Amino acid sequence: MTTFSQWMADIQQRTESALDRALPPTDIAPTRLHEAMRYAVLGGGKRVRPLLVHAGGQLSGAAAERLDRVSCALEMIHAYSLVHDDMPCMDDDVLRRGKPTVHVQFDEATALLVGDALQTQAFQHVADAPIADDPQRQIAMIRQLAQATGSRGMAGGQAIDLAAVGLQLSLAELEFMHIHKTGALIRASINLGVQCGRSLNDEQMASLDHVGKVIGLLFQVVDDILDAEADTATLGKTAGKDAANDKPTYVSLLGVTRARQLAEEMCQDALDRLAPFGDAGQRLAELTRFIVHRQF
Ligand code: IPE
Ligand code: IPE
Ligand code: MG
Ligand code: MG
Ligand code: MG
Repeated sequence: MTTFSQWMADIQQRTESALDRALPPTDIAPTRLHEAMRYAVLGGGKRVRPLLVHAGGQLSGAAAERLDRVSCALEMIHAYSLVHDDMPCMDDDVLRRGKPTVHVQFDEATALLVGDALQTQAFQHVADAPIADDPQRQIAMIRQLAQATGSRGMAGGQAIDLAAVGLQLSLAELEFMHIHKTGALIRASINLGVQCGRSLNDEQMASLDHVGKVIGLLFQVVDDILDAEADTATLGKTAGKDAANDKPTYVSLLGVTRARQLAEEMCQDALDRLAPFGDAGQRLAELTRFIVHRQF
């Protein structure tokens, strides 16, 4: 079996080429919008959601082409969320993935439209070809993706985040915000990857859904820690932005040490729940550790 880092590089590379094929080319109109969409999506990012999709697919023996398709949709939605998150009306950031943010490189109206277009492109992409053994399941999967993206998922979490500026949240409120703004797409990534392959039983699906929920939360806890501890060059985005914007985070509420401890505890919880899956859960277990110990 290949090492984790080889596996990761392989998924990142195949995701990059799948996205390149899935996005509209810059020589068809409207060329500037297409250029900005490609700028937002290609050539950067850890591709954690595609990695989760493929790790989920390993648990159900899913075909790689289906996993690529689902990965592209998730990564387009994720990229859209970053473009909007960086706009002056939200976090007001000028740097993303080591490059000027879309509204800086292009303009605000283009950044808005990039988000609109990437979101719809994502749904078109998972409707264009089979991602599951039967059409009913495919419709259910697309529905899950919509739910994870919308007001009961990521967009709702972003609304909570904006409403929380300057407030001191309780741990339960902070957890609720993180589970939505970041956790929903991460949880969906694993669940959808699994559903690209053969059916698992209800108990197994419930375990993996729990694992996805935990990984989603811990992903944002680590993002909060890195914002406070890492530097801008390493992150490829402005460090210290949460404190500057007066955002409640796991670090502002608990301090770095306790936030790290919590992330380690959540990691262990996810690994315990994955243990019964044996070798089939290996990539997801490795990825969980990577998410906790990543440097950016
Ligand atoms: C950053 O996500 C925004 C959050 C949801 C915390 P990532 O850390 O996955 O960003 P990229 O895709 O690697 O740039
Ligand atoms: C972003 O959270 C969550 C989404 C984009 C949905 P953050 O605002 O913490 O992400 P970064 O730190 O700007 O990447
Ligand atoms: Mg934000
Ligand atoms: Mg932000
Ligand atoms: Mg952040």
